[in-house]
Amino acid sequence: MTVLRNIGQLATCSANTVQQDAGLIEGAALVFEDKKIVWAGSERELPESFNAHGSIDCRQRLVIPGLIDCHTHLCFGGWRGDEFEKRLQGHSYQDIAAAGGGIRSTVAATRAGSAEQLQKKALSALRGMLDLGVTTVECKSGYGLEQATELKQLRVYHQLNDLQAVELIPTFLGAHMVPDEYKHDREAYVRLLCEDLIPAIGDQKLAHFCDVFVEEGAFSIAEARNILNTAKASGLGLKVHADQLSDGGGAQLAAELGAVSAEHLEYTNPDGIEALAEAGTVAVSLPLASLYLGEHYIPAREMLDAGVRVAVATDFNPGSAPSYHLPLAMTLACLNQRMTPQEVLMGVTTVAARAISAEQRIGSLLPGFDADITIIDAPSVNHWLYHFRANACCGVLKSGNWVKKYAG
Ligand code: NIG
Ligand code: FE
Repeated sequence: MTVLRNIGQLATCSANTVQQDAGLIEGAALVFEDKKIVWAGSERELPESFNAHGSIDCRQRLVIPGLIDCHTHLCFGGWRGDEFEKRLQGHSYQDIAAAGGGIRSTVAATRAGSAEQLQKKALSALRGMLDLGVTTVECKSGYGLEQATELKQLRVYHQLNDLQAVELIPTFLGAHMVPDEYKHDREAYVRLLCEDLIPAIGDQKLAHFCDVFVEEGAFSIAEARNILNTAKASGLGLKVHADQLSDGGGAQLAAELGAVSAEHLEYTNPDGIEALAEAGTVAVSLPLASLYLGEHYIPAREMLDAGVRVAVATDFNPGSAPSYHLPLAMTLACLNQRMTPQEVLMGVTTVAARAISAEQRIGSLLPGFDADITIIDAPSVNHWLYHFRANACCGVLKSGNWVKKYAG
């Protein structure tokens, strides 16, 4: 048993309160045993029975649940720095894709990379994420668009789960784009997904979720409905890349099908927001994608006020969001999405956990939850996100084990 004492501010982040309230306790203590939290509260009320156990002095710092990045495209070959320059010269993301760059170029590099090369590269990103305080990462396939490479990406995720401390939650995104081989017969690609890939991935339990990019130039609502219904029948949870570049009705589709989350949502209209609120579908906001693509930020305030839970994630990928810096995304969500620091913290803990159907186990610092704990060198959530430092994280526990050593 270990007791964290002298915590300046503890954020418990309960799944059962409104997103505005991160459950802050000043002058707190937190106790964990083996993998689980056993006690959390004001240090003055710490039961005497815990006094005999080893304790760690948090020196008035902020203690929060291990951060959850609930939307990434972690495994990919190559980078696209050349497109960064082109976009700065005025070429749009869509123009670059239409000219053969974009997702297509990453597909070629990912097909060409060996599993070992891809694993090594993703591992280096995961080390950087852990250093920032991230303990769980959702990670999508979608740069294979053929059976062998899609399975290669998902297997890389499974191997990485055994190799390092950050917990990976794989999502199948075979419906990211129609690959060039099928450009004259897209129905055949949808059949490949529905008849071969999704059932095989469901059987082998290679992914927890299935996602579809609903967009002009990617998949239509009708195609997405077919793919997602097949995924549901194969036991996968559902996610949708919705309304990123235009208002295509993706949010309504996510709500209609009972998806856990609708992600991006830059162009979602008021009816889409209402549909998400009614269905309890989490809106996953991706401020780094807005930043890099020069797009507007999502109307998070309207969503929260309408009763939608809003998560915040990086979208880490080589095109629209080549950074895995979740705390940067958090500060941008405050500044550009008009979310309060507490709402943002909830958006990367319990609400992000809900977006991967894990809010009963992770994302909160309450008895019974996994002891995934991040210590931040700041006196409060407010100060942390306002002061923004390259990295204020000074210690991380995953399931009760120190995975970033706390120097005190
Ligand atoms: O979430 N929108 C689709 N997919 C990614 C970008 C992928 C890429 O550009 O490689 C996204 O922004
Ligand atoms: Fe994405």
